[in-house]
Amino acid sequence: MKVGVFDSGLGGLTVVQAIANSLKGIEVFYIADTLFAPYGEKTKEQILKHSLDITNYLIKTHKIDALIVACNTATSAAIINLREEFPNLIVIGTEPGVKPAMQTTESKSIGVLATPATLSGEKYQKLLKDLSLEHEVMVYDQACKGLVEQIENGKVSHVDTHKMLTTWLEPMKEKSVDTIVLGCTHYPLVSDLIKEIMGANIKLIETGSAIARRLESLTSNNIKNKETRIKVFYTGEIKKDMINMILENWEDGGKIMVREVYEQ
Ligand code: DGL
Repeated sequence: MKVGVFDSGLGGLTVVQAIANSLKGIEVFYIADTLFAPYGEKTKEQILKHSLDITNYLIKTHKIDALIVACNTATSAAIINLREEFPNLIVIGTEPGVKPAMQTTESKSIGVLATPATLSGEKYQKLLKDLSLEHEVMVYDQACKGLVEQIENGKVSHVDTHKMLTTWLEPMKEKSVDTIVLGCTHYPLVSDLIKEIMGANIKLIETGSAIARRLESLTSNNIKNKETRIKVFYTGEIKKDMINMILENWEDGGKIMVREVYEQ
């Protein structure tokens, strides 16, 4: 079972981590499109082109059976086209967990942190509209411009990252937000900072385990052997120590790291 996964950078590895913890015996080909990061500040057309190019590469070179778009921004910009373009491929996207957050909140007040492109995209706007018919919950969303770069640069506990998050989160605190949606796959990497600012009781909603469950439900019959293999490819610069930091929590020891440059 070969699974292709992509994101603009390291963030999607938080999704791969969830997959690797619950599915054994798969081979993961991970593309970090760092040359073009951050996606969240690019146009829909640009993100769509990269998503199609990467998927073509994963199909042709690595013969993948399933694709995970481990990026809320690329899912918003490209998932419909990817499904149309590759009808025989299992395609799983990533969407901010607004629904589980609405079901979890007790204060009826939630925060959503995501990239500018995700929040302004039609997909998110429609999700909010649909959910507001079912739930009476106040939603405070915040575009976190610059946060992805801080994380890609390994500044996950840097004072500037703390300052950025404080500016965005203090107003949510004042509105009694008790649940925050991490609407970008990079943001689980700053969970500790968010808890420091919002208090340890804040509930954080991420989507990695839901994606792992979805993949399992679509593919479990194909998984035969036990070893899980992960190959990480990247298009530009990457912080290797960040990869190690994210991977060190993995339960499965059978991972293989390979550096290869994907040429666009
Ligand atoms: N990790 C991505 C997401 O989930 C995108 C980050 C970016 O490149 O802006 O939205």
